Amino acid sequence: MPAIANPRLLILHPRLNLYLKPSFATMLFRSHHNFSLFSFNHGRKLAIPKPQLFSVNPRNLSSSQLAAEAHSNSRDNGGGGRSGALSPPAIVEAIQKIDVNPPKGTRDFPPEEMRLRNWLFSNFKEVSQLFGFEEVDFPVLESEALYIRKAGEEIRDQLYCFEDRGNRRVALRPELTPSLARLVIQKGKSVSLPLKWFAVGQCWRYERMTRGRRREHYQWNMDIIGVPEVTAEAELISSIVTFFKRIGLTASDVGFKVSSRKVLQEVLRCYSIPENLFGKVCIIIDKMEKIPMDETRKELKSAGISEEAIEELLQVLSIKSLTKLEEILGPTGQAVSDLKQLFSLAERFGYSEWIQFDASVVRGLAYYTGIVFEGFDREGKLRAICGGGRYDQLLSTFGGDDIPACGFGFGDAVIVELLKEKGLLPELNLQVENIVCALDHDLQGAAAAVATILREKGQSVDLVLENKPLKWVFKRAARVNAQRLILVGNSEWQKGMVSVKILSSGEQYEITLDELE
Ligand code: HAM
Repeated sequence: MPAIANPRLLILHPRLNLYLKPSFATMLFRSHHNFSLFSFNHGRKLAIPKPQLFSVNPRNLSSSQLAAEAHSNSRDNGGGGRSGALSPPAIVEAIQKIDVNPPKGTRDFPPEEMRLRNWLFSNFKEVSQLFGFEEVDFPVLESEALYIRKAGEEIRDQLYCFEDRGNRRVALRPELTPSLARLVIQKGKSVSLPLKWFAVGQCWRYERMTRGRRREHYQWNMDIIGVPEVTAEAELISSIVTFFKRIGLTASDVGFKVSSRKVLQEVLRCYSIPENLFGKVCIIIDKMEKIPMDETRKELKSAGISEEAIEELLQVLSIKSLTKLEEILGPTGQAVSDLKQLFSLAERFGYSEWIQFDASVVRGLAYYTGIVFEGFDREGKLRAICGGGRYDQLLSTFGGDDIPACGFGFGDAVIVELLKEKGLLPELNLQVENIVCALDHDLQGAAAAVATILREKGQSVDLVLENKPLKWVFKRAARVNAQRLILVGNSEWQKGMVSVKILSSGEQYEITLDELE
């Protein structure tokens, strides 16, 4: 048994004599209605005197819990998302009641939520595989330096970062793209281009919480490395359209706003604004919708943009038609030609009705260099469903070669909100094929043998582990949506047989163990 500093932390499982970690204890408590009793699965109850008092010793917490703790301390002190060095909170001697909720902005995944998450992720994965992408993953904890960019992005202030015990600055990843770039550089010439990679991973951002925005979310990413042509962006949008269709959404529910950062670049070039201001200007413009226009003008001015250029920029940003953009920028520029090619490819892919040009889309990450796009709900009730674009220079900013790249991130939160809105959430019930039950305590071993036979044949089995009345077994079978009830009774077992009941029809028969499948 692990050494426990404070014996009051212990919740002993009466049979296994196990020490339950605080987080597990928390989950058990949340799922239990009667807060004064702790029930374990063999029916014995452990009385806990009211009020429930647990002392949590920080030495027993994991480092992420500590980080969250340190973080919440800094928040209580009015701090933002950046925590300082990893300093555990003072050891609490007094008994304190634990909060049974997960930290603000994070989620537990009890079984019904986990079923939904698995359904969503398997759609992400199946679509990626339909498009010939390979799955990759990276650590959730990365070096902080990966996210330090100068352009003043929001994501920088939202970092969960701290110093680890070896005095390294680390951060919980707020996005997957820098990790992907790091891995591509690390692989170097050992991989042949183009790479088509996808990942589904958890990201952390200390965000202001709104509907569909939380402090922890999962992101599906698909990225193409090594293709300079717009065909790559067109392919990526096609994969998201395929995903939307698969889960029941249509072009009248959702769409994509598309533009190119080269539009802004061309305007800035006309006014001889230095290239190194580009990222900063994009970030200011991305925030435009959330702050008063005068504030945007002020910020652009203090970034070194002339008043004349600002007015031109704002005018161009209001354009919603590609023809109009062509009139203003001329037909020969890269921005117009890329966008025209994308719209023409969209026609060939068959998703024209899903996309529209909107010059105001620039996106909030500094590294985008070309086409950018955002998925949105047509009712305008939610924040961006997904977003991506071309980032041809990110690898070289990390010291690698310039390799053309583009991709997108698609969160797991907004899409679920949207499916709820549209009544499109799937019904996902627990589904076990068989429930196997011994009719006699002495036949528990026989029932285990039957379960093993079925499982070896690939059938799922919920084995009744205790002596329970048949009424209970039927209720259980209904709860797990079992198709068959297999009863192991004395007289049948003597003949090497079991009785089978098909639960949908009520049909009942006896079969030998060999016939079981
Ligand atoms: P992003 O726009 O910051 O882009 O995030 C992509 C998507 O992740 C958003 O559209 C949204 O669905 C989801 N998301 C972001 N933050 C949150 C949050 N706090 N809560 C819930 N969902 C969230 C990127 O992260 C880029 N790295 C995407 C990319 C990949 N670009 C190229 N490759």
